[in-house]
Amino acid sequence: MTTAEQDPRLTEALAAIAAAGDADALEAQRIAALGKQGWVSAALKTLGGMSPEERQEQGPRIQATRAAISEAIEARKAALESAALEARLAAEVIDLTLPAPVSPKGSVHPVSQVMNELAEIFADMGFAVATGPEIEDDWHNFTALNMPESHPARAMHDTFYFPQQVDAQEVQPGSGQRRMLLRTHTSPVQIRSMVEHGAPLRIIAPGRVYRSDSDATHTPMFHQVEGLVIDRGIHLGHLKWTLETFLKAFFERDDIVLRLRPSYFPFTEPSVEVDVGWQDVGGRRVLGGDGDAPGHGWMELLGSGMVNRRVLEFAGLDPDQWQGFAFGVGVDRLAMLKYGMDDLRAFFDGDGRWLAHYGFSAFDQPTLSGGVGARQ
Ligand code: PHE
Repeated sequence: MTTAEQDPRLTEALAAIAAAGDADALEAQRIAALGKQGWVSAALKTLGGMSPEERQEQGPRIQATRAAISEAIEARKAALESAALEARLAAEVIDLTLPAPVSPKGSVHPVSQVMNELAEIFADMGFAVATGPEIEDDWHNFTALNMPESHPARAMHDTFYFPQQVDAQEVQPGSGQRRMLLRTHTSPVQIRSMVEHGAPLRIIAPGRVYRSDSDATHTPMFHQVEGLVIDRGIHLGHLKWTLETFLKAFFERDDIVLRLRPSYFPFTEPSVEVDVGWQDVGGRRVLGGDGDAPGHGWMELLGSGMVNRRVLEFAGLDPDQWQGFAFGVGVDRLAMLKYGMDDLRAFFDGDGRWLAHYGFSAFDQPTLSGGVGARQ
């Protein structure tokens, strides 16, 4: 077949294929020629009605047309693809000599940092981390902790209660109905853990707690960490050793001295308030050293005691078999003492500048080998 003999439709189709500007235009050309209704397909169909001689002549001609169009389409497709790639490479050129853009970095809030430090320290002593709901019922928050209906901490001016759910009526004392409230301490997690897991048990329970209180050293929401150990033959010595070991690791000082003072909590018996010794270093109070020495003093740090028999009974444990100790300490307070922040309210203002100053690197997780404290 010579050029002179070439079917004008083929000439036209080859030109259109060569001019196709994108994949869609090219596909339209393919359909027009080779598609079911295309003119090449139609020509192929006419072969059936031809005499053998005619078919001998026309068959190869039509097949050649089809091959020419297919080839032209493939060639154009390859050309379009490489042009697209070239264009993309040109558009996406990266200048490796430019300085890398600085992406803003978040930081870990001191409260989260301290909770991570606590989890790390207590994990080493075999404590698991437990959690409980912040919307609690008065049975877990008070009753099961041996705080009877008449206990002053239950008063409306201390505790945030939810509106009555039961028939819009007051829940009657002794009726067994439970009022919902924002937990006032992490101690209800003691009850939940004992009920769920039984004994023996070693947990810490960090989390948010709520009280109707607000000034420079009190916010209506703050953080506590509860500790609870239940086992056979647990006594005050275990409590003291645990607190001493924890505080030495947390404050990263070996000279932490504790003073246990008799106190009262309904859920512990005996109850002890734990003070920690501090000393004056250049006008600053620094933890460590004997609080009774001249120029030294004691600071109240946490509440604790041996778990009251009645609390064990409420939680379904036999107090003749199981004993335990518990403690509760303010996480915000620990953070302020360790990292030298003096206004509690700033913790919860959400001021980015404060966080940039006091926050911790997310990549610097506390470890006992690397140090639990901050390295900024
Ligand atoms: N729940 C007590 C409080 O909030 C602290 C505490 C916990 C005391 C455990 C003794 C034992 O003040």
